[in-house]
Amino acid sequence: MEKIAVIGSGYVGLVTGACFAEIGHQVICVDNNKDKVAALKQGNVPIYEPGLSQLVLKNVKRKRLIFSDSIKEGVENSKAIFIAVGTPPKAKGEADLSAIEDVAEEIAKYMNSYRLIIQKSTVPIATGDWVESTVRMFKKKHAKFDIASNPEFLREGSAIDDFMHPDRIIIGVEAKKARELLSRIYKPIKARIVFTDVKSAELIKHASNSFLAMKISFINSLSRICDASGADIDKVAQGLGMDKRIGKDFLKASLGYGGFCFPKDLAAFINICERLGYNPELLKATAKVNEQQKEFFFRKIKKALWNISGKRIAVLGLSFKPNTDDIRLSPAIDIIRMLKKAGAKIATFDPRAMEKAKRELSGVDYCDNAYDAITGADCLVLATDWPQFSRLDLKRVKRLLKRPIIVDGRNMFDPVNMKRLGFQYSSIGRNA
Ligand SMILES: NC(=O)c1ccc[n+]([C@@H]2O[C@H](COP(=O)([O-])OP(=O)(O)OC[C@H]3O[C@@H](n4cnc5c(N)ncnc54)[C@H](O)[C@@H]3O)[C@@H](O)[C@H]2O)c1
Repeated sequence: MEKIAVIGSGYVGLVTGACFAEIGHQVICVDNNKDKVAALKQGNVPIYEPGLSQLVLKNVKRKRLIFSDSIKEGVENSKAIFIAVGTPPKAKGEADLSAIEDVAEEIAKYMNSYRLIIQKSTVPIATGDWVESTVRMFKKKHAKFDIASNPEFLREGSAIDDFMHPDRIIIGVEAKKARELLSRIYKPIKARIVFTDVKSAELIKHASNSFLAMKISFINSLSRICDASGADIDKVAQGLGMDKRIGKDFLKASLGYGGFCFPKDLAAFINICERLGYNPELLKATAKVNEQQKEFFFRKIKKALWNISGKRIAVLGLSFKPNTDDIRLSPAIDIIRMLKKAGAKIATFDPRAMEKAKRELSGVDYCDNAYDAITGADCLVLATDWPQFSRLDLKRVKRLLKRPIIVDGRNMFDPVNMKRLGFQYSSIGRNA
């Protein structure tokens, strides 16, 4: 059992803390958002992630997991300190690392003996150097420490399973003592550990996310060719993905990727490349294709409806992907904004993300269920592929819509069947 503090109790920090407690460690999750900490202390998990509430409550009950708004408490009671605070984008895409700096300074102030400080947030190359120099500047003379980079690869919606059964664990660490401590922490998780230097670990995370984003932009580029030529993107993706060198994952055409990882991390990666004197054309094209894909989807809706102004459009899905309430940089939100700007009236429903959307997006009719949103709409837009949307009663949908028009940004339905049911159905890169 190791004593661990996790600073930042969001999607990554809370999952990390709960999972470390679950595998036997003593964990204190810290956050500077006092309301969040108060809610967690009351047993209320403020984000939706399947299984997370249960895991948190179970480990609180076992007394392996506690919450605090004090970094001091975390540092004094733990040997390993994971930093999992947010690294949001600044105006030009650069990662805002001010929270990392603040936390590093605070940790340093309260260290009285050896501590291992592990960077889990996604950060640009060389952040480890900055954390190290910040800690060195503010720590007491006698307090020894090491720095490590341990980027996180969990996906919202399957975060616990991803954390417990990762493809690999990346650890960038120089000191033997630190390496051994991290090996002990991760021992119960049966996964290959790749030990490397801190900078390479930092780069692996940016490289992984941008490669996946690039795969999506690649298939979305192909979807445009399919749309224009009459080829079928689903068949193309299937044939392409059967090549083991390519792989079938992340080859699903859509209205574009979103969330607080791919777009944000790609922008941060582009920014750090340029600062290092390299012009990353491939990364820039990946981001550009993604923006174009959203515009392309908007044009599809326009084409289906002729005039958008004054029309009522039902948008199903607000989160950037299913099984999460996270709407950060969600393409669904971008599309709604574009439609509103064009004069449409929006009715929407999302199984989990409505509360968060309400705080960001006003002037939208938030409905109690999918059918309420669809009722009287001139068009149904599918923006997020929640499994329940693929189980909609399509005959009922047709009855409720004012015009039987569906524009599907996630290719959830079979175009032939939709035509047979009497819909004017358009999707991405499929012409049937
Ligand atoms: N969300 C994901 O799927 C995912 C996956 C892998 C990596 N990441 C990376 O992990 C990091 C965290 O992402 P997230 O989605 O968990 O963000 P989040 O916004 O959900 O959580 C960040 C938390 O840090 C807290 N915080 C901010 N400043 C603080 C400070 N000075 N002291 C204490 N707490 C502070 C915030 O209150 C918030 O609760 C980011 O770098 C992100 O890119 C995210």
